[in-house]
Amino acid sequence: MSTAKLIDGKAIAALVIEEVKIAVAERKSKGLPRPGLAVICVGDDPASAVYVRNKRKRTEEVGMLSVSHDLPKETDEQTLLALIDKLNGDEAVHGILVQLPLPPQINAERVIERIHPKKDVDGFHPYNVGRLVLRMPTLRPCTPFGCMRLLKETGEALAGKHAVIIGQSNIVGRPMALELLIARCTITVCHSKTYDLPKLIGAADIVVAGMGKPRFVQGEWLKPGAIVIDVGINRLDDGKLCGDVDFDSAKERASWITPVPGGVGPMTIATLLANTLEAAKWQESA
Ligand code: GUN
Repeated sequence: MSTAKLIDGKAIAALVIEEVKIAVAERKSKGLPRPGLAVICVGDDPASAVYVRNKRKRTEEVGMLSVSHDLPKETDEQTLLALIDKLNGDEAVHGILVQLPLPPQINAERVIERIHPKKDVDGFHPYNVGRLVLRMPTLRPCTPFGCMRLLKETGEALAGKHAVIIGQSNIVGRPMALELLIARCTITVCHSKTYDLPKLIGAADIVVAGMGKPRFVQGEWLKPGAIVIDVGINRLDDGKLCGDVDFDSAKERASWITPVPGGVGPMTIATLLANTLEAAKWQESA
């Protein structure tokens, strides 16, 4: 087995961003408003600050309106809900994203449910999640939807493949399972209580790792020729980023693999912008 081919998330994200940019310019020429994205960040989590800064920068680069709200870590839930109500009613804002995690005094479920489903560009609202469950997708969670685009870019057929997802979060694992099921994969969702994870991973044609453990998945666990999507972004003590997969050993077994950085991360932001454009169209469709 030769070394795995890289799935170049940075390049694929750039294609998506270019498509969004063209669509935004076309809307402008037709006299339609530019899509607006409000990004709310509560507290001073350093990782969140980096993600939010990137999201805002990219939003402006594609010609969308970027609305920023940075709230102190002591912010109470009522204040955040009131801000969401205001943004729900703001015609210039088509998408609302509340960066997670939120500080402990704020209930994230109540916050997510307060966002109007048509402005829920994260696809986390129970309405949009339910639509995904029922194979009638509306706005879809950015990271899993971006991973599907990466998988499609390999040109490999997905139907019938056994996909093993590691991690059961609402942001990655669960919606990823739903996306892969729509793509006609057989799915296994693993988590911290799973027995014999290496054995399950060894049966996978597709591995999606998103449980937040640096370099956890070992190359020797993989079935030769597996496609590996690494959703992890972990900062090591030396400041370097690494995924949830041990890239050096995995690339010797996999057929395709996403690097970290430059894999899933850039796709998540590109998908967020594509979702904001979709949200604007949905709101205009009455
Ligand atoms: N925190 C980590 N990933 C995400 C995401 O996709 N959306 C939001 N809102 N917060 C996150």
